[in-house]
Amino acid sequence: MSKVKFYYGEKIPLEMHKVRIVQKLNLPPIEQRLEAIQEAGNNTFLLKNRDVFMDMLTDSGVNAMSDRQQAAMLEADDSYAGSETFTKLENKVKEIFGTEYFLPAHQGRACENIISQTYVSPGTIVPMNYHFTTTKAHIVLNGGRVEETFLDDALQVNSDNPFKGNLDINKLVDLIETNGADKIAFVRMEAGTNLIGGQPFSLENMNEVRKVCDQYGVMLVLDASLLADNLYFIKSREERCKEMSIREITREMADLSDIIYFSARKLGSARGGGICTRSKEVYTKMREYVTLYEGFLTYGGMSVREMEAIAVGLEETMDINMVNQGPQFIEYMVDELQKKGVPVITPAGGLGCHINAMEFVGHVPQNEYPAGALAAALYLVSGVRGMERGTLSEQREEDGTEILSNMELLRLAMPRRVFTLSQVKYAVDRIGWLYENRELIGGLRFVEEPKVLRFFFGKLEAVSNWQEKLMAKFREDFGDSL
Ligand code: F0G
Repeated sequence: MSKVKFYYGEKIPLEMHKVRIVQKLNLPPIEQRLEAIQEAGNNTFLLKNRDVFMDMLTDSGVNAMSDRQQAAMLEADDSYAGSETFTKLENKVKEIFGTEYFLPAHQGRACENIISQTYVSPGTIVPMNYHFTTTKAHIVLNGGRVEETFLDDALQVNSDNPFKGNLDINKLVDLIETNGADKIAFVRMEAGTNLIGGQPFSLENMNEVRKVCDQYGVMLVLDASLLADNLYFIKSREERCKEMSIREITREMADLSDIIYFSARKLGSARGGGICTRSKEVYTKMREYVTLYEGFLTYGGMSVREMEAIAVGLEETMDINMVNQGPQFIEYMVDELQKKGVPVITPAGGLGCHINAMEFVGHVPQNEYPAGALAAALYLVSGVRGMERGTLSEQREEDGTEILSNMELLRLAMPRRVFTLSQVKYAVDRIGWLYENRELIGGLRFVEEPKVLRFFFGKLEAVSNWQEKLMAKFREDFGDSL
């Protein structure tokens, strides 16, 4: 892998691209930020982007696009059926994954809807290395259940396991033996496990999972939404793969999967999604759902311009200098925060930097949503918008019991090739200050709580006037600074 060494020994990520289009940012003063976050019901999803300085909510649909992607968008073929753009995308998918069949869908959860409707039925089980919110929702909606078969390590905040996203083979075998292979809808492996801090699985682990799937005749489904990061980690952390190209690693992963699906809001740095398979039977079973829910088979609810951009984006993902940008910036941020004593998930993963709210605000009880409170507090003191990934992102039991999440994380996503290092330094500075003043942060309670996916549009209030106190301390320490 090509690495640039700095003469004076500094270890910082170096961009292998230049910025040619920019978007103006706004950093409102803290008094305005307090109003904005309270109006948003302390839910960072409900903030208006005009009130946000660094949008670290997600990397979904907001990664920087390349000049080649933008150029390709001008060539799009808008035909309803048989679009040339679709053929281009289908061919690129075929070339990279070696899969004969491609079903387009408007985004990742649409793929999950189609796969779940086809393969999940009441009483079935989907073992996985960790669930994602929308994945679980679709499986449960179809009467199935998720069984987390992650490593014991996976939920340890600090670990030196380079592959905390591995699927536990013994747990998988036990689960299949106990329930019977006919109860397993499919095994799902999520590249770059989102909810546990963007932790990757190894190629060796995927090979072992495949063996188990073969032994019991069960399908293996790969969620490749965060594949780019996982590819980088396999190449940089797995001994056998050091000399393999990104393309070779991708192909081996694809060959091990029966179905691959992805959110192209992440993989391919555009907006869309799709399902790939080598099996005509699998393709035919799912096909009708595409026309029913998404659109005709040659666009699946996507704009053809986005499809052009995805085709180019997939090709660009095969470049190590593209896939290393996210993980290297994230590693920098994680290291800098650790130097300040801020509790973060280690080793640094993909997707973003994950702060351990359970420790950061250990005095806030879990039923007052510590990670949600921390997200609101960070926005207040910095204009940085992160995302709660903890109890708030869970769904209550049918009887209303709160499911307390295994982890309480504040996720600060690092959209690829979007922020400069000085912006990342700013975020580190404000997080460091907030950590020193963490005792001022209090909990949240719901004032409006939707039943499904409540974290998206639920509204909460502070349990006391802690936000006003935090603002006063900010003014004391920062004077008239923004
Ligand atoms: N799978 C994974 C691993 C994801 O991270 C996401 C989305 C999806 C599936 C669903 O894809 O959004 O296109 O419908 N993750 C986004 C995030 C929402 O912010 O982490 P989608």
